[in-house]
This record gives sequence, structure tokens and C-alpha cells, in this order.
Amino acid sequence: MTIEKQKLRQCFGSFMTGVTVVTAMDENGNPIGFTANSFTSVSLDPPLLLICVDNSSDHIETYRNGSGFMVNILAEDQKDLSNRFASPIEDRFDGIDWQESDNGNPMIGGTAAFFDCSTEKTIDAGDHQIIIGRVHDCATNGKAGLGYHRGQYFTLTGQNN
Ligand SMILES: Cc1cc2nc3c(=O)[nH]c(=O)nc-3n(C[C@H](O)[C@H](O)[C@H](O)COP(=O)(O)O)c2cc1C
Repeated sequence: MTIEKQKLRQCFGSFMTGVTVVTAMDENGNPIGFTANSFTSVSLDPPLLLICVDNSSDHIETYRNGSGFMVNILAEDQKDLSNRFASPIEDRFDGIDWQESDNGNPMIGGTAAFFDCSTEKTIDAGDHQIIIGRVHDCATNGKAGLGYHRGQYFTLTGQNN
């Protein structure tokens, strides 16, 4: 029995999540990134996390074969960044506050937290790749994160952004 895609999407969407922007450097040293809510913490020892990337991503080979990536946890006032990194904009980093981390990954400014990772393992899973990252650096500044539920953004403080 196959489950209708639309129904599955609606059911997945009833699980409340935060919002991240996953970033990396492409083979030419240019920053790339996309919005992702498939982020999951995996292990404390060793420190591991995962994200899932659609095989249709413009940069799937970089995410799959690259040496590392950054998970930027968006703050509640960063809805515009979420929309930007989910849209077909040629240079998503144009005008964005970001810098290269010690591990060589693009770190976005003003986020609630970040995880700077090397790529530990990738797993072929249906129409996505599960990318497991080993955390080499992370920090949080206590800012509230941006929430996502049934296709809508929400904030814990009720901030309207
Ligand atoms: C809130 C939100 C969460 C998303 N989560 C994911 C995700 O976990 N994995 C994914 O591959 N795409 C996800 N997307 C869709 C991508 O951000 C979008 O398709 C983007 O254009 C992909 O860019 P790329 O082709 O440059 O990789 C999400 C979009 C939004 C708005």
C-alpha cells in the first residue's frame, strides 16, 4: 500500500520543529546553503547530529561528498532568512551577515545557535540523503529559536516577524 504524498506531507508537518539553515562551501570556495527543519540531535559521545537533504538539491553532491557543513539554528527574528534560503535566489548570501568558521564553513550572524561539523557519514534514504555530522564547535547565545508547524512559522514569545 502506498501512502499519498500530500497526506504524508501534512502528517509530517504536524510535528513542530525549529528552523535551520545548513551551509557549506562548494568546490569553488563559494558559500551555499538551504533551509532545513529535518535537523535532529543524534549522539553526545561522540557528538553527532543529522540533517536530511533532498536528492533534487542543486548542491546535493557537495552535501554528500563534502568535508563538512554548518547547522545555523535560526532565531525568532530570522523568518526572512528562512524564506530566503528556501527560495531560488541566485546568491542567497548576498547582503547576509556571515563569516567563515575555523573549520571553513559559513556561519550566519544573529542565530540562536550553531553547530560546526565535519561529515561523518551519508546514508541513501529514499528521495533524501541522511547526512550525519560530527560536531567540532557549537555555541548558543540564549536567543529564542524560530518555530515551524503545518507550514507556518511561530515564535515562543509571540513575536510577529
Ligand atoms: C521550513 C522549511 C524546512 C525545510 N526543510 C528541508 C529539509 O530538511 N531538507 C531539504 O532538503 N529541504 C528542506 N526545505 C526545502 C529547501 O529549503 C528548498 O527546497 C531549497 O530551495 C533547497 O535549496 P537547494 O536546491 O539550493 O539545496 C525546507 C524548506 C522550509 C521552508
